[in-house]
Amino acid sequence: MRIDIVTLFPEVALAPLSDSIIQRARAAGLVTVEGHQLRDWSEDKHRRVDDSPCGGGQGMLLQAGPLFAAVEALKRDDTRVLLMTPQGRPFKQALAQELAQESHLLILCGHYEGVDQRVIDALVDDEISIGDYVLTNGALAAAVLSDAVIRLLPGALGDERSPVDESFSDPNLLEAPAYTRPIDFRGMKVPEVLLSGHHGKISAWKSTQAEARTRKNRPDLRAE
Ligand code: ADE
Repeated sequence: MRIDIVTLFPEVALAPLSDSIIQRARAAGLVTVEGHQLRDWSEDKHRRVDDSPCGGGQGMLLQAGPLFAAVEALKRDDTRVLLMTPQGRPFKQALAQELAQESHLLILCGHYEGVDQRVIDALVDDEISIGDYVLTNGALAAAVLSDAVIRLLPGALGDERSPVDESFSDPNLLEAPAYTRPIDFRGMKVPEVLLSGHHGKISAWKSTQAEARTRKNRPDLRAE
């Protein structure tokens, strides 16, 4: 897989993808990730890429010209073009799984108050939001999406854990609480049942706990 990220802050987008599991996946050749400076496609002598919105309104918009030039330079026949924006569809695990099947993702990062709508109409396959809050720009959102996709690539997590299990797990249920040694930490004990070796009982306990945790932390998931 190849991921190209076009942003005013390539170093912000790449920093979280340069360590640990993701760095190993890159070193192993499972994915090539490149950051691109949007200003490199500016035709302005001051390398400007933004202007004020037509009809008035707050802030500045990314202009169509540099983003069109970037996409024309980087797009291939097999490319899926994404725009990171708080106006997008919510990013969920199911979409991460879908994107992990693609061969080339070209991720455009919004900034300021957004991008010229003609970019979205003509170039973008999916507008994607990572959550209901507004970041200063899309570079962090691009890193979040890339991380979630790359760890799903076959071989990225090594032998320890397979993401395949996750795809079969219920997306509307959080995981049960988990414990590791020591068994007694400052008087707080690991629940007996987990030490019982009785797989049926452990499994039933995990289901009950997962259900309770979901009802407490994500009641919206149970209502869906
Ligand atoms: N850019 C700014 N906020 C964002 C968000 N929540 N998701 C995706 N891109 C963004």
